[in-house]
Amino acid sequence: MARTLPVASLNSVFQPLESVRISPLDRGFLFGDGVYEVIPVYDGLPFRMDQHVARLGNSLAAIRLANPMAPTDWRQLVSSLVEANGGGTMSVYLQVTRGADVRRDHGFPGSAGPTVFAMCSSMDPMRADILSDGAAAIVADDTRWQRCDIKATSLLPNVLTRQLAEESGCIEAIMVRDGLVTEGAASTVFVVSNGVIVTPPNGPGILPGTTRDLVLELAGSADLPARIEPVSETALRAADEIWLTSATREVVPVTRLDGAVVGSGRPGPVWQRVHDLYQGYKARLAESAA
Ligand code: PDD
Repeated sequence: MARTLPVASLNSVFQPLESVRISPLDRGFLFGDGVYEVIPVYDGLPFRMDQHVARLGNSLAAIRLANPMAPTDWRQLVSSLVEANGGGTMSVYLQVTRGADVRRDHGFPGSAGPTVFAMCSSMDPMRADILSDGAAAIVADDTRWQRCDIKATSLLPNVLTRQLAEESGCIEAIMVRDGLVTEGAASTVFVVSNGVIVTPPNGPGILPGTTRDLVLELAGSADLPARIEPVSETALRAADEIWLTSATREVVPVTRLDGAVVGSGRPGPVWQRVHDLYQGYKARLAESAA
């Protein structure tokens, strides 16, 4: 289980996480009026940092909140925070809210500056039994709004949907809207059918995953057939392989869906290949930084 690490940052002031204090009038607290990122760090090196910073910029622009920092400052904040927590392997959480006004009012505040919060959590490698046997998932209705491309802190539907999965002993819920797979409660969905890797197209209904992009890049570089196209619930249930991807869980094979066996019931050969490519990519990055 991920634990939070001791040093956090509030508006670029480093302090013990336990002493960080946020105003009850902060719009992140009152309205979920903010956006966030989760960046994995391996052996002290932030992974796909530019992509996370770019997505944070897109989320901020989408909610009409001026980006409080330049990309180099975001990189510097993350590196300094990782160092302050002793380096190593962890994840960094960044959150920017529309700040605290003097009263609760839905309209944007006149003068409040944003609140920029950052903390680190431990990040354990994926459980060995999940890598060897695969994980269980459920299918659930996608009850979210129509701007799921924004990485917003208002995550109530995701929280309720993930909880449904956990109460069924599953690691994730795969959401479906109008008969089509959107994504997991906190992950991107891939299927493999007849040897072809398929993931739904980005758009307002899903978050553009950084891990998704890397998986597609790695599949392309290894000449594995991959397509970006809608995946129906029927195709999901008939798939030979299902994977879930996210920055903190990497590429997870799903071998049981709503209690039914997926494909052979074992993590599939295409997953194994992509998992190996992913680990190889991480190893090359670590070597080139050494
Ligand atoms: N979530 N879709 C949703 C709804 C997500 O919350 C996430 C990640 C992803 C995958 O994005 P990426 O590959 O960039 O991590 C897709 C993070 C990990 C979280 O909320 O903790």
